[in-house]
Amino acid sequence: MSQDDDFGPRPGEESVALPERFDAGLHFIGRLRTPWTRRAACPKNGTQSEAVCTAVVDPPYAPALQDIEGASHLILLYWMDRADRTLVRQRPRHADGSRGTFSLRSPARPNPIALAVVELLRREGDSLRVRGLDCLDGTPLLDIKPYYATTDARPQATVDRAGTR
Ligand SMILES: C[S@@+](CC[C@H](N)C(=O)[O-])C[C@H]1O[C@@H](n2cnc3c(N)ncnc32)[C@H](O)[C@@H]1O
Repeated sequence: MSQDDDFGPRPGEESVALPERFDAGLHFIGRLRTPWTRRAACPKNGTQSEAVCTAVVDPPYAPALQDIEGASHLILLYWMDRADRTLVRQRPRHADGSRGTFSLRSPARPNPIALAVVELLRREGDSLRVRGLDCLDGTPLLDIKPYYATTDARPQATVDRAGTR
């Protein structure tokens, strides 16, 4: 078994049957180019790597990049296209027990939307060179928003893991 195969069901995990119909549709606006081709090789979050990655925006959406250089940091929303969408309880690799999907940042979730706050290094035409990603090369891009430290940062926020299972 390769390292990347170790994403199958683990003890304590629970899956559900997903509805047959979707409630909404979305359009990918581009792709994220990163150095990682195996999930096991990806950083667990964007602070764990200094790698410079590229958000390649598809031509129809290029006009939406106007003024983007005014932001030092961006929120990128992306689609974890290789994630399990059925898991409602899951067991992180190094955890003692299972945890509810919505208490985790795992890519496995009913709508596998991921987010990262990235540093915008520069714009090159329809592409953005950024630092702070954690996803596979080719991951679809859903949206780009400016990160506002004034309204988005919550330095006092905590996550208490004691007693979770
Ligand atoms: C823990 S998630 C965090 C994602 C995002 N920063 C967030 O908080 O929503 C990052 C992990 O997702 C996995 N991953 C990366 N790209 C993926 C993709 N396209 N499909 C499925 N899993 C992916 C890798 O194992 C990576 O380490």
